[in-house]
Amino acid sequence: MNQRIVRLFLLFSMLFAAACQHAPGPATQPQTVPAAIAIADAYGAQVASAVLDAGGTAVDAAVAVAFSLAVTYPEAGNLGGGGFMLTWMDGQGAFLDYREVAPAAATRDMYLDAQGQVVDNLSLTGYKAVAVPGTVAGMSEAHRRYGRLPWKELLAPAIELADQGFVVPSLLAVNLQEELPRLAAIPGFLHYFGGLRNGEIFRQPELAATLRRIQAEGAAGFYQGETASLIVDEMRRGGGLVTAADLSGYRPVWREPLLASWRGYQVLSAPPPSSGGIAVLQLLKLRDLLAEDFRGLAHNSPQYVHLTAEMEKRVYADRAEYLGDPAFIDIPVALLVADDYIARRAAGIDRRAISAPGSVHPGLEPHDTTHFSIVDRWGNAVSNTYTLNTGFGSGVVVGGAGFLLNNEMDDFSVKPGQPNYYGVVGSAANEVQPGKRMLSSMTPTILLEDGRVKMVLGSPGGSTIITSVYQTIVNVLDFGMSAADAVAATRFHHQLLPADLVTFSPSRPLPSGTIQALAKRGYRVQPHDWEFGDVQLILRDAEDWQAASDPRGRGEARVLH
Ligand code: DON
Repeated sequence: MNQRIVRLFLLFSMLFAAACQHAPGPATQPQTVPAAIAIADAYGAQVASAVLDAGGTAVDAAVAVAFSLAVTYPEAGNLGGGGFMLTWMDGQGAFLDYREVAPAAATRDMYLDAQGQVVDNLSLTGYKAVAVPGTVAGMSEAHRRYGRLPWKELLAPAIELADQGFVVPSLLAVNLQEELPRLAAIPGFLHYFGGLRNGEIFRQPELAATLRRIQAEGAAGFYQGETASLIVDEMRRGGGLVTAADLSGYRPVWREPLLASWRGYQVLSAPPPSSGGIAVLQLLKLRDLLAEDFRGLAHNSPQYVHLTAEMEKRVYADRAEYLGDPAFIDIPVALLVADDYIARRAAGIDRRAISAPGSVHPGLEPHDTTHFSIVDRWGNAVSNTYTLNTGFGSGVVVGGAGFLLNNEMDDFSVKPGQPNYYGVVGSAANEVQPGKRMLSSMTPTILLEDGRVKMVLGSPGGSTIITSVYQTIVNVLDFGMSAADAVAATRFHHQLLPADLVTFSPSRPLPSGTIQALAKRGYRVQPHDWEFGDVQLILRDAEDWQAASDPRGRGEARVLH
């Protein structure tokens, strides 16, 4: 395996060296620090290192990684999904929303039967689950604004990996087995992905051809022409809703990042249609309002978990009520993160007993996604989370084009009060409407200190993303953990509903004393259904970086001195 990787990446390095000779002039900022990366698989890490070594910016590396993960991380890396890219480039924050949108033919009740009951799995598996993909348009737009190396070169590693194949990591083979009961019946899924075997080489020639069209034509190589026709044909075969007009009409959107001061840091995070930035800011601020209560509490002790669960109840209640696509609903963002509002929410927290779910109302009148964090030598940063939603998405593979389509429609609230795959509920704010972006929990985040990057992080995990990001920040800043310890630590999660349920990382349980003490207080404390979170963290420590990839995943982190 190693020899093969070395050969591939020698080739990449040569390509990039050649590209650099033609690249525009150097970035304006002085070189300050080494580059650093934390990526969800070793192939992506290798690609990012090669791009950065060749003088690419953090965004160049992000674009190349996004395409390479679409080949080597098919559970979540994608062409057929969407996501969010948070950037800090040349001293400016920006947020690119390339989230999927509902097809024009989508309707509010499309997942209900004649009796108004939710049809099992319709929003989750197969053709009706598919929303209009955003990833390729997102990467093209990010590159247009912030790229330095030629687009064609950034596609080259992914094409090579698809053409020549890559050695299947064991976790990919395991993830495939887990999803097979859900996906095996979908025509085409086994044909394309059934051949994935641990330790064997997996080639994807049709995907390579799709990537070549994108390489040659940019976003038009996906949203128009042959790839678009193949997507539309696939939709017709299985009764999906995405049309040629949906594809050609898709546009990513630049938004202002959510920005707030917290303890002298500038926190940049995801605005709506993500719930993640608002939720993490609420948690960080609530924690400081409860500073007296938290003082001296040991990490993951019973009272620590209780107070955090009380905070999370309130945050998830707001999420369910107020959040959705800002193009369709008015979202009181400023009010939701205002200090006086958070102070009122803190006042309702019960220090000793569990607030009943029914008593926690919105205060104003949820497995597979992947995140990568990149810092370049100029101190620019990218925090990118993108997804097909659950592992391998809808399971629908575009025939002749070799890539999977998302099942992001399940992130809408298909019926008021009906939990989605991740158990989170929603209201009219997040009902299905044509052209609308479904509410997300993806939380790419950057913390700045005195205008310089202090931390870059994010995670998969559906609704648990928010708690993974929050707890990782606190592990570093309050418990003084190293990057490696902070991502590895046990995490726990509570989201208002199911009532009184606290779940924890299955492979790293909470201390048994904590579990017993919480049970005495009335909590149900259980391992989470899956190994939630795969945090990719870069952290500035004086003048150097620490980079860490969550040991729960198959990622790799490097500091590139
Ligand atoms: O946007 C969201 O919140 C979800 N579609 C993310 C899904 C996810 O993180 C799956 N990973 N385990």
